[in-house]
Amino acid sequence: MSTVLDGKHITLGVTGSIACYKAIDLASKLTQANANVDVILTKGASKFVTTLAFAAITHRPVVTDVFDPQSELSIDHVALAERSDSIVIAPATAHTIAKMAHGLADDALTTTLLATQAPVIVAPAMDAHMFDNPATQANVRLLEERGVTFIGPASGRLASGLIGKGRLVETPEIIGCISAALGRHGDLAGKKIVVSAGGTEEAIDPVRVITNHSSGKMGYAIAEAARDRGASAVLVSTPTALPAPYGVRMVNVRSALDMRDAINHECRDADAVVMAAAVADWRPVSTADQKIKKGASNEWAIELTKTPDIIAGLAADSLVKVGFAAESQDLIANAQSKLVSKGLDLIVANDITAEDAGFASDTNRVTILDREGGADDLPLMSKYDVGVNILDRVRPLFRRDIS
Ligand code: CTP
Repeated sequence: MSTVLDGKHITLGVTGSIACYKAIDLASKLTQANANVDVILTKGASKFVTTLAFAAITHRPVVTDVFDPQSELSIDHVALAERSDSIVIAPATAHTIAKMAHGLADDALTTTLLATQAPVIVAPAMDAHMFDNPATQANVRLLEERGVTFIGPASGRLASGLIGKGRLVETPEIIGCISAALGRHGDLAGKKIVVSAGGTEEAIDPVRVITNHSSGKMGYAIAEAARDRGASAVLVSTPTALPAPYGVRMVNVRSALDMRDAINHECRDADAVVMAAAVADWRPVSTADQKIKKGASNEWAIELTKTPDIIAGLAADSLVKVGFAAESQDLIANAQSKLVSKGLDLIVANDITAEDAGFASDTNRVTILDREGGADDLPLMSKYDVGVNILDRVRPLFRRDIS
């Protein structure tokens, strides 16, 4: 999988909080994504975690002291500041945030922060009262005004045993935030891309629904890939087990009719729509207000009516329309006929019977068909990379030029 993190220089500042152990996971995930991760540990952080742990994970020397002769910063004290594509401080203590707000540069991390032009991301972790303190809040506001991005803290159980807002946000959210920052000037900047995801739920009564096996993974991955290229990504999603991706606007829906309304609304000013959702073709004619009782009969028939075809019904003038064709037989022929009948620009043909390309899988093998009869047979790849490939083909089709 190749993401926006590939080959980028990320400086990870780790400051003295009990959440330091989570920074090891973050360093690991960034390294796995092929980023070059330079870690700076503050004195406080070194009480919780060791340089060895980070050096072993990142395969790079870890900086603790500007004056350490082993450190690159002893020769060039702004080396990391200049090299970094992004600097992320996770966890960030109230003390470090205060130093940043006031331009102090008394250690390797704050010196680097003061000298950098790269986007800075701060993920605070502290006692809830410390975060709520007007001094911390004023510092956060000041830094936000200067363009620093804050992510979290999250609410939950804190080290003190109290419940409150002070937890370091989870690694995937921080990675999403870094990816969005790195991709902000990407080749889809200024474009609005609407993606649908998940399987719709058609209510029979307050307890029961008709739905399907869609996990939502394909749509979420496309939305993330669009975000990472600077697009303004909107995800119209049914309930799934997936976390909302950072930096993607979520519109939560359940039924095909809800999804149609949301898609129609969002597409009014969109540049492209990708319908990755598995929309129910049928819904109950009526939904019972109360739970339907089992009763004495051994049979029960539910009367169904067709749902509207969402993508076919979209006015297409300024919109690039991409559909998916989930097929269990005659993949290409069926996909081709949907491309035409639904008035699409592209259709992604997806054999749902393939083991490594099914609903819940993280990978997919698809063929992308276009209006001119072109068929691009892609090998097995991550769903994110499928998203990248779809967007590569959407880009030249935009009705409005990318400025
Ligand atoms: N789709 C839609 N509205 C519907 C049904 C499907 O917008 N009511 C979209 C899907 O999101 C997908 C494409 O149309 O992008 C094709 O969906 P698919 O389920 O493969 O095809 P159907 O049109 O439902 O046809 P069939 O079930 O007969 O294969």
